[in-house]
Amino acid sequence: MKKNIAIISGGYSGEYEISFRSGMVVYESLDAEKYNSYLIQVKEDEWFYENGDRSIEVDKTDCSLLIDGKKVRFDVVFCAIHGTPGEDGKMPAYFEMLKIPFTSSGSIASALTFDKNLCNRVVATYDVNVASSVHYFRHDKVSTSEIAEKLSFPVFVKPNCGGSSVGMSKVMQVEDLRAAIEKAFAEDDEILIEEFVKGRELTCGVLSSKGKLYVFPICEIVSKKEFFDFEAKYDPALAEEIVPADIPVNLETEIKNSSAFLFNKLNCKGVVRFDYIYSESDRELYFLEVNTVPGLTRESIVPKMAREMDISLSQLFSMMIEDAVWRHKQ
Ligand SMILES: Nc1ncnc2c1ncn2[C@@H]1O[C@H](COP(=O)(O)OP(=O)(O)O)[C@@H](O)[C@H]1O
Ligand SMILES: [Mg+2]
Repeated sequence: MKKNIAIISGGYSGEYEISFRSGMVVYESLDAEKYNSYLIQVKEDEWFYENGDRSIEVDKTDCSLLIDGKKVRFDVVFCAIHGTPGEDGKMPAYFEMLKIPFTSSGSIASALTFDKNLCNRVVATYDVNVASSVHYFRHDKVSTSEIAEKLSFPVFVKPNCGGSSVGMSKVMQVEDLRAAIEKAFAEDDEILIEEFVKGRELTCGVLSSKGKLYVFPICEIVSKKEFFDFEAKYDPALAEEIVPADIPVNLETEIKNSSAFLFNKLNCKGVVRFDYIYSESDRELYFLEVNTVPGLTRESIVPKMAREMDISLSQLFSMMIEDAVWRHKQ
């Protein structure tokens, strides 16, 4: 029997477009002999499926579609929503309630890893280096002199729960902190201010499928901008993504081991990308963040890693779907 797959894309954040493009790639890659695929767009006011010139609203009571009088239920949901409500655990919680298998990490792992501050705190307990930081809620009194006392410049000011570098600034001196803090608070009610870690930016993908872990080749990101900002992320002329990264074997092993370890400890599922900075001055690896729904467009990093391993996107997505079914039965 062919499985009905709902590919959920879009979402409520500035990452809507890129999520839709990721969803489109999944839709185009899924094997039509094994799966009936439905690309669903999730917007704040409506979740819908476009069928020709018709737009069919999702019935949220059981995540189904009514097409020509026939109810279509889903065997598996493929989550391609970067940012809220996919990557932050809300959609996973909804599918957990409905008992529908889905391809990404569960609600708790997704929520934890989406919260940069809490995730860093947990990761640090495993003796993994994270940048020194301070965290504020909107209602906290933010003293820039206190920040300057606690952290050395440059610092990164970021919305605590964000993505695609939106609302983020690299700040060189205390005088520029206020504007950066306001910019970050425009995106979120919490902000994180981290010391800048100077070094090489390296990222590693991990996939779990039917109880087995696959650690992907490492990618080095070389941004032509001040950091890997929004423009650099989506304009190929502004960043080079080198797979496999040209790094010493011991560093490669350290990154792969760290990523597999964190994947298990944080209880991640599906395909996840771990970002790091390797500081050459103190020869230490610093954890930056986890992406539990990494980009899946043809230009995105995970598909480049898969290509390097001779895994086609069709195979990769099929492994994620079959893993979701397998986990559901455990
Ligand atoms: N502490 C840091 N030190 C050095 N570079 C950083 C630091 N934090 C963020 N960056 C840079 O900013 C980019 C985006 O930061 P990140 O925390 O990954 O946010 P997002 O979730 O928006 O991708 C990183 O890819 C990196 O280039
Ligand atoms: Mg990032």
